[in-house]
Amino acid sequence: MSSDQVVIFDTTLRDGEQSPGATMTHDEKLEVAELLDEMGVDIIEAGFPIASEGDFEAVTAIAKRTQNSVIAGLARAINKDIDRCGEAVKHARRPRIHTFVSTSPIHLAHQMKKTQEEVLDIISSTVARARNLVDNVEWSAMDATRTPIDYLCRCVETAIKAGATTINLPDTVGYATPDEYQKMFEDIRARVPNADKAVFSVHCHNDLGLAVANSLAGLHGGARQIECTINGIGERAGNAALEEVVMAIKTRGDVLPYRTNIESAMLNRVSKLVAAVTSFPVQYNKAIVGRNAFAHESGIHQDGMLKNTQTYEIMTPASVGVTKTSLVMGKHSGRHAFKEKLKELGYELGDNQLEDAFARFKALADRKKHVYDEDIEALVDDEIAQQHE
Ligand code: KIV
Ligand code: ZN
Repeated sequence: MSSDQVVIFDTTLRDGEQSPGATMTHDEKLEVAELLDEMGVDIIEAGFPIASEGDFEAVTAIAKRTQNSVIAGLARAINKDIDRCGEAVKHARRPRIHTFVSTSPIHLAHQMKKTQEEVLDIISSTVARARNLVDNVEWSAMDATRTPIDYLCRCVETAIKAGATTINLPDTVGYATPDEYQKMFEDIRARVPNADKAVFSVHCHNDLGLAVANSLAGLHGGARQIECTINGIGERAGNAALEEVVMAIKTRGDVLPYRTNIESAMLNRVSKLVAAVTSFPVQYNKAIVGRNAFAHESGIHQDGMLKNTQTYEIMTPASVGVTKTSLVMGKHSGRHAFKEKLKELGYELGDNQLEDAFARFKALADRKKHVYDEDIEALVDDEIAQQHE
């Protein structure tokens, strides 16, 4: 793997499905997995096989059906979880077991009720067990960003010694800032003696709206795998959005010198599929895939867009699979866009007619929230009829 290549690990079907209310059926999961596979996602986390019979069956079916992606299943650091996960992913051409345990003092004291030394033993035995089943094992330190760095170094060293090939350091509760997250990776990679034997991974939650920024900062710290979800769905405020990290890397190669295997022109299609199967609407102003991401209403912006699209768009709609930019006609629109709209609708007006029609359009837009093409046609037809009276 070249040093600038970033592995995209999609967890829409696991962490994404943990969004309250986002449950998908077996067939819907297969449909999403097939599209992710086709889009160039390197690793699909297909589910949590021990969680339910349905999850086990979905992970098994996805492992059998997909062609290119590595198929991962999640397992707690418990033998029966790891064995069940191994059973489900073994059908994949390239299976991965992803096992995790909490490492922060707050989780150890209140959730795990274990000492730090006990957790180190658990890491060692469970990672080794997973590694007996598959060659590709990911280990995650749950709540890594609230774990003291000295202890986190010992955990990571132990996991790599036991056979982990990927080390994921999640910001489980969305608490970190970009500088802190970058430094954590730099410190771990500098201090853990066997760090060069594993790929480091980011996994960021969006509780403070920093999931994408933190993920990119993690790359600067040396991580080369990003865990993310389509439309950013996930626990609580969600995970880093796949479409945002991919397009940030693609658009800002000058400051983000990395590459992914994602076919970005499929992003809009997969976003729509995930929104439909989860019944989670995409917010209108969502970056990359929101309905307004390539829509312009103000007169100044529309005028600029008609002269050169780069004035107000930093990526082309086609690059993410959107057919075209839309100039939405509303009260902020100017003459230039109005004239273009008339041309598109097949009208050629003289200067005076155009001025009158524009004034009537502005008055209408002040009264009406949505001005449709039909409204403009009616208004212009009326204007033309009046001239002939
Ligand atoms: O947020 C988290 O810590 C997780 C782990 C299971 C990787 O989702
Ligand atoms: Zn998570």
